[in-house]
Amino acid sequence: MFGFNYYTPTKVVFGKNTESKVAELVKEFGGTKLLIHYGGGSVVRSGLLKRVTDTLDAAGISYVMLGGAVPNPHLGLVYEGIDLCKKENVDFILAVGGGSAIDSAKAIGYGVVNEGDVWDFYDYKRKATGCLPLGVILTIAATGSEMSDSSVITKEEGLVKRGYSSNYCRPKFAIMNPELTMTLPDYQTACGCTDIMMHTMERYFTNGGNMEITDALAEGLLRTVKKNALILAEDPNNYDARAEVMWAGSLAHNGITGCGNDGGDWMTHKLEHELGGLYDVAHGAGLAAIWGSWARYVYKDCLPRFKKFALNVMDVRDEGTDEEIALCGIEAMEDFYRTIKMPTNLRELGVNPTEEELVTMAKKCAIGVGGEMGSAKVLNEEAMLAIYRASM
Ligand code: NZQ
Ligand code: ZN
Repeated sequence: MFGFNYYTPTKVVFGKNTESKVAELVKEFGGTKLLIHYGGGSVVRSGLLKRVTDTLDAAGISYVMLGGAVPNPHLGLVYEGIDLCKKENVDFILAVGGGSAIDSAKAIGYGVVNEGDVWDFYDYKRKATGCLPLGVILTIAATGSEMSDSSVITKEEGLVKRGYSSNYCRPKFAIMNPELTMTLPDYQTACGCTDIMMHTMERYFTNGGNMEITDALAEGLLRTVKKNALILAEDPNNYDARAEVMWAGSLAHNGITGCGNDGGDWMTHKLEHELGGLYDVAHGAGLAAIWGSWARYVYKDCLPRFKKFALNVMDVRDEGTDEEIALCGIEAMEDFYRTIKMPTNLRELGVNPTEEELVTMAKKCAIGVGGEMGSAKVLNEEAMLAIYRASM
């Protein structure tokens, strides 16, 4: 077991109608002039944005608005947001939406507080020294960005998708009303459940420092999301299932399911980020399409963990060799993806890269991780290419 820092400063306000608390939360954290940042319009159509601005108006809190954060959010809009915040003397950002609006808000927050080009942080050229404070009203359970230290942005030029992590960007508060997620298309609900499970699995499939308590939390979280994803596939308006998944989404990425280990594997995410940057696929679907190929490539180097996953999460029977049990676990996970209509390869994801494109993705991925990365198994560029090829 390794020592660790566990830092989750976000105040979570969870339950029905919690968005009505937005003005008092903004005041509690010192916001006087807001940027309200949102995505492509779902919050306009659902009426949420109007409810939020009505509440802020009634409390006398002024704000400017910037919508348009797309899935795999773009750097161009981040620059626009930075200029707007500076011009309007914004001192607090309120992200209303999913991971894309939140990540874009975090990047804007970095750009307002730090001099120079904000992309430098995502390009690993330098480190941020602060971020404008931000709060979140979450509308999709998926990335955990509402409590996480990370932000993922795509630079349009060269379609480079990169993440940057620091504690500065952790939201001050996260309003989570599970009812707000009931307007999601089924596909996005399934993508979200996949991402939540993957955040836990990235931390679970490691070769270093695992703790019993962390494993118990992780396995419980995985079983809960699996069960409730199946419920939501049949009954999308089930409040309790929405609530289970929503809270799991935050716990899956606020660090608690990684305490004591070596930091996690994260290669499925890195491989997916290249797909997201290049083909603009939904993040969760991209993860599902890659995971099986990654798992089959690495499982022999992380066999005890794959066996444990098969037995404790996927309910595989304890029969046969460790390898057979591990493989049954991988197959069971892929069956689960199919049941919730997630892809298990690139073809099902709807992309068909040429060999040249696969080579480019592997190259960019290797550059993005500084040459090689992974804990279940350390992967270099050649291994990344092999996994991309296997996922065709
Ligand atoms: O843009 P709008 O119109 O709001 O529509 C969104 C979008 O089309 C829609 N949606 C969201 N809430 C809705 C809704 N539609 C109807 N009703 C609602 N209540 O769903 C679509 C997806 O939204 P998005 O915010 O893109 O989804 P998600 O939360 O999955 O975020 C994905 C982005 O986050 C990054 C991903 O790479 C991707 O760019 N990630 C961020 C992480 C982090 N910051 O910690 C970690 C993750 O691993 C991930 O990389
Ligand atoms: Zn993710």
